[in-house]
Amino acid sequence: MKIAFYDTRPYDRASFEPLLTEAGHRARFIENRLDIHTLDYAQGADAICVFVNDKVDKAVIEGLAALDIRLILLRSAGYNNVDMQAAHKHGIRVFRVPAYSPAAVAEYAAALLLSVNRKTHKAYGRIREFNFNIDGLTGMDLFGKTAGVVGTGRIGQMMIDILRGFHMNIIAYDLYPNPNLNVDYVSLDELMRRSDIISLHCPLTDETRHLINADSIEKMKPGVLLINTSRGALVDTQALIEGINAQKIGGVGLDVYEEEDSYFFEDWSDKIMKDRDLARLITFPNVLLTSHQAFLTREALAQIARTTLKNIEDYEANQKTDNEICYLCQ
Ligand code: NAI
Repeated sequence: MKIAFYDTRPYDRASFEPLLTEAGHRARFIENRLDIHTLDYAQGADAICVFVNDKVDKAVIEGLAALDIRLILLRSAGYNNVDMQAAHKHGIRVFRVPAYSPAAVAEYAAALLLSVNRKTHKAYGRIREFNFNIDGLTGMDLFGKTAGVVGTGRIGQMMIDILRGFHMNIIAYDLYPNPNLNVDYVSLDELMRRSDIISLHCPLTDETRHLINADSIEKMKPGVLLINTSRGALVDTQALIEGINAQKIGGVGLDVYEEEDSYFFEDWSDKIMKDRDLARLITFPNVLLTSHQAFLTREALAQIARTTLKNIEDYEANQKTDNEICYLCQ
């Protein structure tokens, strides 16, 4: 099979190329993101392989159908960037990698939490300038505090385990509470009101878009720490900026951003930043923002490549698999 890989970096090539070559497939690694303007790079391919910021909207799906491409392989778990209705209409099948390393993302969420709380990102900058002053670096003990986890799937559960290691009291909200999970499920309102730290681990859907908004921020405890490693649009950026300005929110760790697709994974250091909200967020001393890297561990990359290869094999064998996104089942 000939596969056009979009939005690739050297680490993608390193993890995919040996596996695909051994299995007799041919890969074209394209640095550009997929959108209507870069669709032509897929000419001659049987399938495309995309990541979180490739735009697989209706127009792109129609273009793919015109190129006779019948398979979309996602290198991610989330698929909010794919117009599933259009894919279904054109008979294009979509496979994803539902779980490659929940630990990678949960551990990263914990890393953001620890940094934002204890300000190690600021300490690093100071020490590099031989500034050994520790004024302004005061954090709080996590021990005995309340953590609110939104979404108790694979990553949320790992996060709960990690936070329990800090002896935090855990409360959780999930649209579909897991009866096998020993956790205190509460309403979203209660979670907002009681949590000292809030970590988001639910997918982006119509229901969860702007789950964190002016209303929910109003309910939060003063000084709350917010961690988002899921999808940027779970948070209303304007409301977040206002909440930080008003000193209601004490610290924020973001690995995702609502409008990240224009900036993340690219070097903008010698260009003018046009996104004022992103620029504003980066200027806050209590915000630690990273470029969607929670997934980036050796183990996760290897698992993404292995699962994608299996998805190709299942597609070719017309084998039923839970990794295929079923539009009609949603
Ligand atoms: P999962 O599917 O195992 O768990 C998601 C949980 O969210 C489920 O328990 C589900 O019931 C719950 N949920 C669904 N709708 C909800 C709603 N309206 N309100 C509250 N909870 C809701 O997914 P997993 O593997 O834990 O991943 C979670 C999210 O993490 C993904 O959707 C993805 O957006 C993000 N992610 C981010 C990565 C990164 O590199 N920053 C890497 C991988 C995933």
